[in-house]
Formats: sequence, structure tokens, C-alpha cells
Amino acid sequence: MGNLLEKLEKYYNEDYLPMHMPGHKRNIELLGEKLPYKIDITEIDGFDDLHHASGIIKNIEDKARKIYGSKRSFILVNGSTCGILAGIRSVVNFGDKVLVARNCHKSVYNAIEINGLNPIYMLPQIGKDGIDRNIDSKQVEEKLKENKDIKLVILTSPTYEGVISDIEAIVDIAHKYDVPVLVDEAHGAHLRFMKGLKDKEALNSGADIVIQSLHKTLPALTGTALLHIQGDLVKEQNVARELSIFETSSPSYILMSSIEECLDIIENRGKELFEEYQNNLKYFYNEVKNLKNLKILGNEIENKDYYDFGKIVIKTNKTNITGKELSDILRKEYKIELEMSSINYALAMTSICDNKENFERLIDALKKIEGSLEEKKEISNNYDIILPKKEISILEAIKNNNSEFKDYNELKGRISKEYIWVYPPGIPLITPGEVINDDIIRKIEEFGKSGIEVRTTFDKFPKIEVIK
Ligand SMILES: Cc1ncc(COP(=O)(O)O)c(C=O)c1O
Repeated sequence: MGNLLEKLEKYYNEDYLPMHMPGHKRNIELLGEKLPYKIDITEIDGFDDLHHASGIIKNIEDKARKIYGSKRSFILVNGSTCGILAGIRSVVNFGDKVLVARNCHKSVYNAIEINGLNPIYMLPQIGKDGIDRNIDSKQVEEKLKENKDIKLVILTSPTYEGVISDIEAIVDIAHKYDVPVLVDEAHGAHLRFMKGLKDKEALNSGADIVIQSLHKTLPALTGTALLHIQGDLVKEQNVARELSIFETSSPSYILMSSIEECLDIIENRGKELFEEYQNNLKYFYNEVKNLKNLKILGNEIENKDYYDFGKIVIKTNKTNITGKELSDILRKEYKIELEMSSINYALAMTSICDNKENFERLIDALKKIEGSLEEKKEISNNYDIILPKKEISILEAIKNNNSEFKDYNELKGRISKEYIWVYPPGIPLITPGEVINDDIIRKIEEFGKSGIEVRTTFDKFPKIEVIK
């Protein structure tokens, strides 16, 4: 069958006249070659069809299936986002009850909204540093026992910061109740290839639907992802149909080739590349373990067996700078751009494409920055979470236009039409349809005093839209 990229390149050289989409017509005389017009085609004869794959695209899906050991793997070009929307809708009916980790990505909340779902929330453990830890399987058991009508368990593992939950224990419990488990493993497409983490990976732990962004932690272009299924609790045809709703009908061949290239690299050179990567990570963590004030989460995390060391979380809470300031210094003075920064930490993402010099550059920068920092007593924020009362569903709140904007501190007892978030811990303080209470107003004030930015759906904070 061959490789998609090679076939696209060969096709370009065969000089076919493209009387079809895309409109650039591979005219590089007019457009130049800075962008890959030459291999950007649509579903023409011989190039298969993502939504009815039977040829060269099916071949890529089969490669993914074999590498990850799933029953069926779908390749995605609209990121994990479309996989999460499709995966959830493939299992639930409108209005169903679902068990959801409260620290899920917004795509999960969007699925809750459009399917009118009734979410029962599980809270992650929160570290003293405010960073989310795992979802405890005991909570899954409790909630499933209390709510016999739950139709799906949804959680994120690993988290953005690299914390992995015990999916095997969670799946064992959920399956006892015949409930499937969907794991948002957007940050874990590489786990399977990391020594010590293979059996912590969601598919290997028995999850029914697993969605992984290839572009986040593996060498693949932005927007590429995989959706895997296994077992009998999820129907392949339902997933395929939902993907045809949530994913573009004009999938990029460049992105699909990138998925295949990524899978080929893993298959052909994965062992060697991951070995080198893990050695580099070991070297990094060892070099920074004696920093006095800047602390790295991986060196301090309680459960090292359930942690992805590829996420380098640099904590600044014992220093006189914020995570954001650290990230600014690294950018301006060392030309190192991090993935994200928060009040108390900044996050560097790494992959098999980082060589030893990259790690050395970061080590060197952190050691130099550390020397110029003052030690500060750690402020202990209260990150405890009390779930607010739900009055109406997210969907009902979003669709209710009888609403008004008011200052947050005048809103006790009112139903929010917006999400209110803070990072960390990235858990919504409130979702649309929940009631703003004293505790939330006090929390917003507390976060404000420590300089933590409060974000809202419509970006008008301190004003928040509420139902009249
Ligand atoms: C935990 C988590 N899930 C899902 C997504 C969505 O992934 P994608 O950007 O591939 O659509 C993200 C993106 O940041 C994420 O962090």
C-alpha cells in the first residue's frame, strides 16, 4: 500500500491537472514553496476518504491500532477536541448522567453542554502547591454506588502537569457496574513508549475510549490526534458516525501524512529515541535537584510511579518571582519559551525531539536565574474545593438570554451564565447553571489578593453574566 507522504509526492510529480479542491491548485509558480501546496490535496481517486477509510488512510489507522494495541484506532485532524466530543456522544443519550472529573478540559464541558448531560463531579486531589494530583478510584466507586444511572466515566490522565491516575483501578470499578470509561489522554500519546509508564497508559489499563493528541508529546503536526476504542461497551459504528459530525469533511492530507510519519518514527526508531529521552530526563532532574529555591515538581511528587517526568514543572512559590515572571526571564534573557506559566509555576514540555543540549540549556538557565532570586516564605493558598449548588443545566444556563452583567461581589445566590476559572488549579470555580455563593466570592477575593488571574467565559471580569 505504501506510505501516504511518498504517494502524495509521487502524485505531484505525475503532473495531473487538478480540476478539484483545494483552490490553490498546487500552483507553486504563483504561490511559492514556503507552504506545502504540492502535497495538499482532497479526496481524489486512490487517496481514500477519512470518514469511510478503506485504503491508504485505513492503512495508517491499522498502524496506530497495532502500535497502541486497540480494537480500532481513528486518526484525527481536529485535535483531541473532536475526539472527546465524538467519544462522549458515541456513548450517551441526551440528558444522561455522567461521572466527570471536575478538572477536565473545556471540550468535555462542551460535550456536557451540547448533549444536555447531567454531570456528577469527582474532584482531583490537590497538592499543597495548588497543582492537581490524581483522581482517587475510591471516589469512582462511591459515586457509581450512589448513582446507578451513570452512563460514562470521564477523566483526564495524565494532567497537563504530568500526573497520572490509576486508570486500571478506575476501570475495574466502572466495569463492575458495566459503565465504560473515557480517558482524555491528550497529554499521554507517548506514555506507552516510556519505560515504567506503559502499564499506566489508559488503553493498557483497560479504558474503553482513549483520546490522545499526537501533536502535544510526539513528533507530529499541530491538530493531529488519535481516538482508540477497545472492549464491547463502545460501538465502533457510533464513534465513526460522531466523528463524521465533529470532524471536518475536508481533512488535511498533510496532517494525515504527519500522523503516519510520527507512527513510522515510533515503530522504526522509538526504542532508541525514548531510551535517549529518558536518559536526558534523568540527567535533567538530577542536575536541578539541589536548586535551593526553584523546585521541580518531578523531584518532589508524592507518587513518582504515576508521573510523567517529560513535563518539567518549575515551581516558584519559594522565591520572590511568579511562574509568569520566570517564564518572561527565560524568554527574554535565555530565549527559552515555555509551554505555560501560572502564579506559582511554569511548565516546560519536552519530547524525544529534545536533545541533551536542550536540557543543558534549560539547566544552565535555571541555575543562573536561581542565583539571582531571593528566598521567600511560601504563601499557603486555600485551594480546597467545595462544589457549588447546581440550579439548572449548563445548556439551560447558556441558552437563557434573560440575563445581566453584575460585579461578582453583588452576585450571592445568583445563577451564573458563565464559567469562572483560576489557574492553578484550572478547575472551574463555577460552571453555567451553578449558584454563586459566599465561598466563591471569598475565593475570588483570595485569588485576587495573591495575584491569581480570574478568567470568565465572556472575559468581562469583575463583571459576570448571571440569569435574571
Ligand atoms: C487535557 C486536555 N485535553 C484535551 C485538549 C484538547 O486537545 P487538542 O488541542 O488536541 O484539541 C487539551 C488541549 O490543551 C488538553 O490539555
